[in-house]
Amino acid sequence: MEVVAEAPGKIIITGEHFVVYGGLAVVAAINLRARVEARRSNTLSIVSTNYNVGCTKGSDCHERLRPLMALLDDISRDYPGALGEYTIRSEIPSSVGLGSSASVSVALTAAALTLAGETPLDRNKVYEYAMASEREIHGRPSGIDPAITTWGGLMLYSPNRKPVRLNMSNRLEVVVCNTGVERSTREMIEKVRSFKERRPALFLSLLESSSKLSETLVRYLMESRFEKIAPIIRWHQEALRLLGVSTSEVDCAVERLNDTGLVAKLTGAGGGGCVIGFPGPHGVSPSVDRVGCCKEVFVVKLPAEGVRSWVRRG
Ligand code: MEV
Repeated sequence: MEVVAEAPGKIIITGEHFVVYGGLAVVAAINLRARVEARRSNTLSIVSTNYNVGCTKGSDCHERLRPLMALLDDISRDYPGALGEYTIRSEIPSSVGLGSSASVSVALTAAALTLAGETPLDRNKVYEYAMASEREIHGRPSGIDPAITTWGGLMLYSPNRKPVRLNMSNRLEVVVCNTGVERSTREMIEKVRSFKERRPALFLSLLESSSKLSETLVRYLMESRFEKIAPIIRWHQEALRLLGVSTSEVDCAVERLNDTGLVAKLTGAGGGGCVIGFPGPHGVSPSVDRVGCCKEVFVVKLPAEGVRSWVRRG
């Protein structure tokens, strides 16, 4: 039997980092996907075509594959039918804020459960396994990345309450600039924790403002009033700079995107990674293909569907 699973990447529009401490964040699944193909076998093995590395259970795996092997090992202890050969291909650039690690964990989990005959796919179960794996990788994540890649769409997310899934009547195109600077989410979370300890009152007031602005943003997105969102995006970039997770590369990319008439901020953990550009108040269309300080620039569409898996017949 052969199965396939796909899970989307994500962009956090507002509220990253604050969400770790209970703030509200707006997050959307995007049309870039991680794909896993799997077939039954009597042991576990993984190949990543992106990194051209592979490993079999019991051998010394490449560091990128170690948490994924641990995840499959956990699942196959609960579901022995998940033993198999897994091949990962991802369109999502890694370690730059687009949720590639959660998308791969979620697609891998969905493939493993489907291979074990667990159909229809139980998304709550997928989320629980992927979240446990994210904890091992990132230390103290809020759960926003595995939640959006599991359920897809657009969400107002807080770890303290059930995520609110939102309907957008029109899809939105967003420019993504990859600065090409890879960074560790764990280190960025640590940096913000230290800011919070040094300046607790300031941190709390930023968190409260961020949450209020996120709720306002959701209204604009749902009503397709995209020309209204510029000040909210600008506020969040300034707040992230204050927390210390913007860098000179990110600031430069933000300025260059702003020069094209978009309004930009970093997305995800920061420290490098990706900057996202939205239509400015005059509704500039996102047709930018080269921007200074960006290693690559592309347009993504949101919202996109969450994880899905299927059995390949024949
Ligand atoms: C990472 O995509 C978003 C952060 O807020 C961490 C988290 O919420 O787990 C930086």
